[in-house]
Amino acid sequence: MVDPDLVQRDFQRRLRSIPPLGMGLSVDVYSPDLFELVNALRERGLQPGYFEVFKATTTALVSVRQAIPDIPLSYHGEGLWITQPDVQASPFFQENVGEIVAQLNRIQSLWLNHECAMKQMAGYSFGTYVPPLYTKLSAEVVADNIATVQGAIDRQCRGAGVMAPLFLLEMPPLTYFSAGTIPIPHFFRLVTELVPCGLVLDIGHLWTVYRYTGACRRISLEQFVREFLDEFPLERVVQIHVAGLACHESAGALKEGEGLPEWIDAHAAPIPSILFTMLEQVLSHPNLSSLRAVALEVDTKPVKTIVNEYAEAVRRFSISVQQTMARGMDVEQSIGLIPCSMSVQGPVCQSDRQQLRDDYARYARIISGQTPMTGLEWEEAAGDTTGVRRYSTSYMPYEILHWGGDLAEMFPQTCRILAERGINLSTFVTFWFRSPRPLTQSYDFFLLKIERFLEFVRELAPDAHVCSEQEGDMLRQAYAQANEVETPVMEMERTR
Ligand SMILES: [Fe+2]
Repeated sequence: MVDPDLVQRDFQRRLRSIPPLGMGLSVDVYSPDLFELVNALRERGLQPGYFEVFKATTTALVSVRQAIPDIPLSYHGEGLWITQPDVQASPFFQENVGEIVAQLNRIQSLWLNHECAMKQMAGYSFGTYVPPLYTKLSAEVVADNIATVQGAIDRQCRGAGVMAPLFLLEMPPLTYFSAGTIPIPHFFRLVTELVPCGLVLDIGHLWTVYRYTGACRRISLEQFVREFLDEFPLERVVQIHVAGLACHESAGALKEGEGLPEWIDAHAAPIPSILFTMLEQVLSHPNLSSLRAVALEVDTKPVKTIVNEYAEAVRRFSISVQQTMARGMDVEQSIGLIPCSMSVQGPVCQSDRQQLRDDYARYARIISGQTPMTGLEWEEAAGDTTGVRRYSTSYMPYEILHWGGDLAEMFPQTCRILAERGINLSTFVTFWFRSPRPLTQSYDFFLLKIERFLEFVRELAPDAHVCSEQEGDMLRQAYAQANEVETPVMEMERTR
């Protein structure tokens, strides 16, 4: 068995190389305009302690590194679906890890932050993050996958003679539902007992856990946060995120008096004041002993709003953030190198991985509305189907049809022909989830949308096929060009 104490000491050894960064901003290199933002902050006498930047092309990341050499950068990864039991067997896994490690080094990031969530599972693809199954086996698989990624980072960095960035696992948001057999904080405790990763606690995500696990019907928010933090491995939290929350475009407006709003993670939206109240509660918890940084996640938000929110957050929290960081700085002690691996316990066996893969295949079919909720991990959700129904009948179809590229705008001619034939675009959603598909490339929702839509047209309206291929080619060319010059071709908002 893995000794959790040894794992904890390995974590502390790795943490030692991360200096306190204080308060910063988590951004996307394309949006907002980073240089405009830095200037606007400077005009207000503000300089972020760091920027956390989302995965982008290496050229774009390097140019950011060169343009603001005096501000530390950290890295928010994407595309390593570490929740998935078969991710290591994916033909793109090594390539993706290699690219991420190279980018970490190019921007001299001290950590790799990655959501404990996925956009692909068991051959089904989604546009935004879906939370993992909160089960014991799922936690073991996540830990095993993290150990593999951290091992790859360690090897590369040892060769280059630099300190290895630390893997940070972020608790993801809930988008209306949750599934599993163990409480969410317990899941993260299991992971951290197996692997020496750090954690990112996102305050808005925590609010969605309160909202969509039914806790909001039983206890106050304050009591929920207290109980959650007592069970969550808070001593592993290295970074805190705070971002906006909002009702989704696809959801109807909530009438007054109907309880808490149906907010979901929304980085473009303003940060509600309740999240700052929660942040206060988190910062004052005695177990928060490894904190190095607090970031407002502000990608896709207007520069003026960012500057105002950041100024207010600094005014209100910079002293308590400094005090919390200082609290943990003297805890660490000198210990020898403990290789990061699951070899003592052994990797998760093949039959367990297959079991979990089947669970995820069922998961994808349930949340896409193809099959009813069955299985232990869906027992609680089946008691109140509102959340899964909201996701499968409203959020998810919106994602396939409009998010990250609106089909009617992408394929105007083809959509006109389909409408003339009486083919409703909503049937594309059913087509999308009809069966699992082997991956043909690293995850890219925009390109995937083009590929699947062309198949859809070929099957349902073969005579519109030529037209759709032409429109598809134009889109791909424009997309490739836009990526080369690093400006987004279409509204490619991201949900982290
Ligand atoms: Fe976050």
